[in-house]
Amino acid sequence: MPALLRASSRREQQANTLRAAYLPWTSKQQSSSRMKAFAACVTAVAALDCASAFVAPVVTSSFASSSLSRTSARSRAPGVLRMSSAVSTDAKVAALQECKKELAGMIDKTNSHPIMIRLAWHDAGTYNKDSTEGWPRQGGANGSIRFEPEINHGANAGLTTALKLLTPIKKKFEEVGWADLMQLASATAVEVAGGPAIDMKYGRKDAVAPEDCVDEGSLPAGNKPFPDADNAQDHLRNVFYRMGFGDEGIVALSGAHTLGRAFKDRSGEGAESTKFTSGDHVARGDGKAGYGRKGGSSWTEKWLKFDNSYYATVPDEASDPELLKLGTDKSLFDDEGFLPFAQKYRDSEEAFFEDYKKAHKQLAELGVEWEVEGGISI
Ligand code: HEM
Repeated sequence: MPALLRASSRREQQANTLRAAYLPWTSKQQSSSRMKAFAACVTAVAALDCASAFVAPVVTSSFASSSLSRTSARSRAPGVLRMSSAVSTDAKVAALQECKKELAGMIDKTNSHPIMIRLAWHDAGTYNKDSTEGWPRQGGANGSIRFEPEINHGANAGLTTALKLLTPIKKKFEEVGWADLMQLASATAVEVAGGPAIDMKYGRKDAVAPEDCVDEGSLPAGNKPFPDADNAQDHLRNVFYRMGFGDEGIVALSGAHTLGRAFKDRSGEGAESTKFTSGDHVARGDGKAGYGRKGGSSWTEKWLKFDNSYYATVPDEASDPELLKLGTDKSLFDDEGFLPFAQKYRDSEEAFFEDYKKAHKQLAELGVEWEVEGGISI
């Protein structure tokens, strides 16, 4: 039986395709069939998630680039052509730095800080440390959220808006993969909103097709009924322990709700609009006007400024009733395991920023396979 038919997994099939394409290319052939074999070889390599040492000499030629653009529909899907494997680390760092500048401008102009952070968190937060499925089906920051069915999961309602904002930037920076782009946008959004600079790594491998998506149901719900627990704290622990976080990480990451809003037509939470999300209210930290879309309910008054005000408003019974408090937010001050961290972040913005940086980085690296071992810094 031919080797390809014996291959039981998709990855084995890809490896066999590569072998089948590579062998004729190395043999004596007419130049046209060698070119075809070469193109097939490049396609197969692009579909594989390994062999960067092999990719580099192959795809750097201009012929390889044009061949790649004519390959199968599947390999034309965004992110499949991981040309990044062929790009030198210096060139990739330069592209990521430029891309970051472009993202900062776009985020500042569109006031899309919160939704960029939510997109990256929902891509990464599917990770299951106990999964035996391996990459990418164990979830994590691999860009699979850009595919249906994942983007249509209930928890991801509204996130196509963020993908649409990123798409022109993705086109401009081919070298930057989707998973990296989402995480770069999120870390940049935190910074642009006045939060800490996060020690991020880049060079994530991208999920390549809808079958790489995780099943629905791995992200947290904000209020009862919780699918797996009677109360918010047990639900939070079920979800975040599965990703490998502890109580400190749960409380620190929840502080991202210092930014943004909940919308009736997305999560169903909050009000249609409040005095903080409509009219003349200024939500940005720099005093400039602007919301993106109007409406929804925010957790804080300055919901486009990254600070520790979330930890002050959530437990404050005298806080404005138009501010949002989900059951999960309130549990940070009700549960004795969460409470010391919540109080620490309320009392010290510096402590919050320190722990938020660590937790955000950990989140951004969940389930990641790196093109270059350990990832690259920019
Ligand atoms: C702790 C469990 C969490 C729950 C239950 C939760 C729940 C929610 C809900 C219901 C919304 C409203 C979505 C909408 O209607 O558009 C939301 C928005 C948001 N979430 Fe969370 N979330 C959690 C954790 C996180 C984490 C870990 C982060 C990031 C590190 C995060 C960042 C955000 C941001 C920035 C928004 C605002 C999005 C916008 O304004 O468009 N959340 N979250």
